[in-house]
Amino acid sequence: MKKTALITGATSGLGYEFVKLFANDGYNLVLVARNENKLEEIKQTFTNLEVTVIAKDLSVPRAANEVFREIEEKGLDIDVLVNNAGFGLLGKFDELDIYKQLEMIQLNITSLTELTYYILPKMKERNSGKILNVASTAAFQPGPLMAVYYATKAFVLSLSEALVEELNDSKVTVTTLCPGATKTNFGSVANVEGTKMFSKAMESDKVAKKGYEAMMSGKRVIVTGGLNKAGALGAKFLPRNLSAKLAKYVAGEK
Ligand SMILES: NC(=O)c1ccc[n+]([C@@H]2O[C@H](COP(=O)([O-])OP(=O)(O)OC[C@H]3O[C@@H](n4cnc5c(N)ncnc54)[C@H](OP(=O)(O)O)[C@@H]3O)[C@@H](O)[C@H]2O)c1
Repeated sequence: MKKTALITGATSGLGYEFVKLFANDGYNLVLVARNENKLEEIKQTFTNLEVTVIAKDLSVPRAANEVFREIEEKGLDIDVLVNNAGFGLLGKFDELDIYKQLEMIQLNITSLTELTYYILPKMKERNSGKILNVASTAAFQPGPLMAVYYATKAFVLSLSEALVEELNDSKVTVTTLCPGATKTNFGSVANVEGTKMFSKAMESDKVAKKGYEAMMSGKRVIVTGGLNKAGALGAKFLPRNLSAKLAKYVAGEK
C-alpha cells in the first residue's frame, strides 16, 4: 500500500521541492497552503498519485485542527508529516507590526505543534512514522532584527529534539532541518534579500534533498551547507551576546 505524506507550505520553495521528492518515491500526498489555485495546479501534475489539497491559512488559530479534522473525515493515515510552512520578517521587534509577528508565532510554532500533536498518536500506535520539522540555522542563537523569527525556530528545534527523546522506545522519528539562506520566496516575504545573510543563499532543491534524506534515515538534526554547519557549531561555543551581535551584523545590508 502506498504511504501518505502531509506537507505544509507545499506551494513554493522547500515545500514544493519536498512534494517532488515524495512524489518521486511514490507517496500519496496531502498538500496544505493558502493558495488554492496553486495547490490544484500542483495536484494536476501528479496524475499517478492520490493528491489531497487542503487550502488553509495556518496563521489563524484552530486552522491546524481544521486540517486534522479534514484528514480524519477523509480517512487518511499520515505516514510522514512535514511541518514546513513558515515565514520571517526583518525589522526591529517594536517597529514591526505586532499582528504580523503574532501570525508568525501561530504559523511557525502553534500550527506546527498542533499538527504534530494530532498526528503523532496514530504514528505511535502503528509504531512507524516520520516527522520532519523545518527550523533554521536561526534556531541556534538570538536574532536581533528578526527577533521573533529566530525565537520561533529555536522553539521548533527544542520541541523536536525533546520529542526524539520521548520517542526513543518507538520507531517514530523526528528530524529537524536547519537550513541557512536558501533561494525561495522566503527572502522577498521576509525582506532579507539585500542582507549579508542572503549573499550566499543555497539552491532549494539541494537543501530539500538533504532534509529528505536525513528524515528518511531518521537523523535527529540536519544543518545544510558547510558554512551553515560551521556557523551552527560556532554558536554553540560563542557567548550568547556575541552570537547575537553576529546575527545582527549579517541581518544588515550587503
Ligand atoms: N528560504 C530560506 O532562506 C530559509 C532558511 C531557513 C529556514 N527556512 C524555513 O523553510 C520553510 C519553508 O520556507 P521557504 O523558504 O520554502 O519559503 P517560501 O518559498 O515562502 O514558502 C513558504 C510556503 O509556506 C506557505 N505558507 C506561508 N504562509 C502560510 C500560512 N499562513 N498558512 C499556510 N501556508 C503558508 C506558502 O504558501 P501559500 O502562500 O500558498 O500559503 C509556501 O508554500 C519555512 O519554515 C522557513 O522558515 C527558510
